[in-house]
Amino acid sequence: MPLLRFLRTLRDSSVATYGEEMFEQAVIERRVLWQRYLIVSAPSGIERVLLENAGNYVKSRVARRLVEPGIGRGLLTSEGEDWRRQRRIMAPSFDHRSLMSYAPAMTEAAAAVLARWNRRDDGAPLDIAVEMMRLTLGIIARTMFSADADDVGPIVEQAVARYQREVRPGLLDLLNLPDWWPRPSTRPWSHIFDRLDEVIDRLMAREAAAGGTSKDLLARLLEARDADTGRAMDPREVRDQVVTIFMAGHETTALALTWTWYLLSQHPAEEAKLHAELERVLGGRAPGVEDLAQLRYTRMVLEESMRLYPPAHTISREALAEDEIEGHRVAKGSVVSIVPWVIHRHRLLWDRPEAFDPERFAPERAAQRPRFAYIPFGGGPRICIGAGFAMTEALIILAMLGQRYRLRLAPGATVEPVGLITLRPRHGLPMILERRR
Ligand code: HEM
Repeated sequence: MPLLRFLRTLRDSSVATYGEEMFEQAVIERRVLWQRYLIVSAPSGIERVLLENAGNYVKSRVARRLVEPGIGRGLLTSEGEDWRRQRRIMAPSFDHRSLMSYAPAMTEAAAAVLARWNRRDDGAPLDIAVEMMRLTLGIIARTMFSADADDVGPIVEQAVARYQREVRPGLLDLLNLPDWWPRPSTRPWSHIFDRLDEVIDRLMAREAAAGGTSKDLLARLLEARDADTGRAMDPREVRDQVVTIFMAGHETTALALTWTWYLLSQHPAEEAKLHAELERVLGGRAPGVEDLAQLRYTRMVLEESMRLYPPAHTISREALAEDEIEGHRVAKGSVVSIVPWVIHRHRLLWDRPEAFDPERFAPERAAQRPRFAYIPFGGGPRICIGAGFAMTEALIILAMLGQRYRLRLAPGATVEPVGLITLRPRHGLPMILERRR
């Protein structure tokens, strides 16, 4: 593709730049002027980058340029000792016990959506992408920061919408130029978060005034002390972590659910199987944590949905030193792209890759696949810290709403995935709610 057309396409939707050949080759090399890109789709090559030789691959400058102006140097973008320290501090908020303690808040938030849907009687379509976004945002605010979603929600929502609209990669970003290189387009981005910063300041002040009575993530961040120096995180560091969790912690899960509702509306047989499982395991009541392991098909539906529509569609790294992947030389400074959007539909890895078939995730079939053929949450040490949180939340929401409602695509709606930072439906997802019981 000629450079200008490539850039135009990329700024609209990066997944549209992947041609047919991507879906049948193990490694593809691309060049943007002098910058080398390697797109790696072979599971053993992905394993090399994310796990075996992970120390040689840092988050690429190209990717950091897109997210750092907004979320700063939080867990998603930090490296080395900083990253290890941050991950250590935050890990307890994502362990099994913590996840189980969040489940009631997740159930309550889904129940509030049901109550609101039950009051509707106009039959007009509802944008399910927006509904899911608000729901998961409320859950993150409440579980991680003991914050009231009504207060924080609209402000985060606005920041995300502006970020997605305004932050587009330009040629200078793709050339992987050093951070100090002036980029006029990045200047206005930081203002997108001004109002959110004020909210975070308020939350931090409230937490400090409460004198450490809370045990949420914010309290953990404020209490954390460096093991060597005894130093606390400075307010800027805490702010960056909070924005990171707000941003990384709601939109992806909301999109996983959004695509799942869309796929179910197009596949009545699989939808009926889901309903049968919900009936058998729950029989109309809300799920408790003890039910989650029984919702096997519900989990498989979510997994298959994240195969076809991975909310985090691209993972990007930069080589610190020369390496070799699947016989391809990786020069120092090369950018390595690992693209779940491509890998999850790759013809060498999946039988009928375009078909929606949750049974692929039945344990015996999943066990036959290479581990790195399915990576919605990434892999290796930088694997998503919120994977368990996201699955617990998505299971509860799908089970709660799926028991009461069938969602039908609104007549005339067009659904088109567009990949910028995350994989979203370009025109939202207008759906009609049909009550089930
Ligand atoms: C379906 C939902 C989600 C998807 C598909 C997803 C996907 C991912 C992926 C692919 C990565 C790795 C990125 C890389 O290696 O470059 C990642 C990292 C991360 N995710 Fe998620 N995520 C989801 C939900 C969440 C939730 C609920 C949270 C927090 C509550 C979260 C917080 C993070 C953080 C902080 C990182 C950086 C981890 C590190 O580098 O140590 N994510 N996520």
